[in-house]
Amino acid sequence: IASPARPLPNRIPPEILCAQDYELLAPRCMELPSHDYIAGGCGRDTTVAANRSAFARWAIYPRLLRDLTTGHTRVTIAGKGYAHPVFLAPVAFQKLVHPLGELETARAAQVMDSCMVSSTLSSVRLEEIAAAAGPDRWFQLYFQPAQEGTRDLVKRAEDAGYGAIVVTLDATIQIPSMRALRSGFRMPRDCVAVNLRDETPAASAPLGSGQSRIFQGVMRTAPTWRDLEWLLTQTRLPVWVKGVLHPEDAIALQSMGVTGVVVSNHGGRSLDGAPASLDALPAIRAAVGASFPLLLDSGIRSGADIFKALALGANAVLIGRLQLYALSVAGALGVAHMIRLLLEELEVCMALAGCATVPDIRPDALIGHHIPV
Ligand code: FNR
Repeated sequence: IASPARPLPNRIPPEILCAQDYELLAPRCMELPSHDYIAGGCGRDTTVAANRSAFARWAIYPRLLRDLTTGHTRVTIAGKGYAHPVFLAPVAFQKLVHPLGELETARAAQVMDSCMVSSTLSSVRLEEIAAAAGPDRWFQLYFQPAQEGTRDLVKRAEDAGYGAIVVTLDATIQIPSMRALRSGFRMPRDCVAVNLRDETPAASAPLGSGQSRIFQGVMRTAPTWRDLEWLLTQTRLPVWVKGVLHPEDAIALQSMGVTGVVVSNHGGRSLDGAPASLDALPAIRAAVGASFPLLLDSGIRSGADIFKALALGANAVLIGRLQLYALSVAGALGVAHMIRLLLEELEVCMALAGCATVPDIRPDALIGHHIPV
């Protein structure tokens, strides 16, 4: 869809030397409004900035003379083994940056043994993504306005062999970023959420009706704790909840029986002013105990960032925007290369920090910088 005149990307530009270089090159590989839509968060992008600065406040101690010859990055999460802790976050509408969209990302995930979380709002059908992805594939669910719509998506995900449902709960309202609004971004007409049936949008309250467009409008169909209880009865797949930042929510979810939670602020695209995910992580880890599965996303751009997230309590991380940037620059090859760069960067950190395995990466591997006020 995006820039049909441009030839399909199939080589890695020589200037890509680290995973974050995909972020630098991406503006050259997509339309400017698309870039503003992707790079922006919501509102004034306060939380987008917080996500990045949170990583910068931690440094990694080098440790000396340890034998690391048996080192590896394999992880076990909720009783299942994964080749490494670098997963692909659910990212909607990938045809915006590549004509084959999610299919290319799925191919990259397969060759790199990365667990791909496929979005409800994908621009390729979830069944086609499943056929292209590797065995480690999860489905990200948005509650639909009607229960049958939600049940139908869960059933389709089960039939297509997805291994878990990741229900995203932090984006009941998504306002665009000023950045995307100012650049006039509009989703191209042929980039659509093909998994969903057409639904007539709920009529919004007219101005002056005394009704709130938010509370009596969009929030009318937003899920509640009861809907999550219901969802847990609808599938035997492990259910994860994405978008958790408060330790009390994490504890409530843990006691309801969800498999794990994703500490995330949606890459700064949901509540502008929400804390950085990394800042929220230590309190959540402390609240749920050492063995409850936790993933983290929002702001990760390097192997060192991944190391810091693992040190502060995550079992694995999800990569959002870098996925789209790499896809726009070099298609499946780019996404695979981006994952490999992240993994190598993580391995270098582990080696120099004296950590042979992911469980060896503990909070005392980090030192927090003094934050001047
Ligand atoms: C997202 N994200 C997202 N999350 C989700 O649960 N379902 C979705 O459909 C989408 N779609 C989406 C589109 C775009 C363009 C972006 C940038 C993000 C959020 C995503 O899963 C993840 O939480 C963040 O992207 C992580 O932050 P970073 O890695 O982008 O900084």
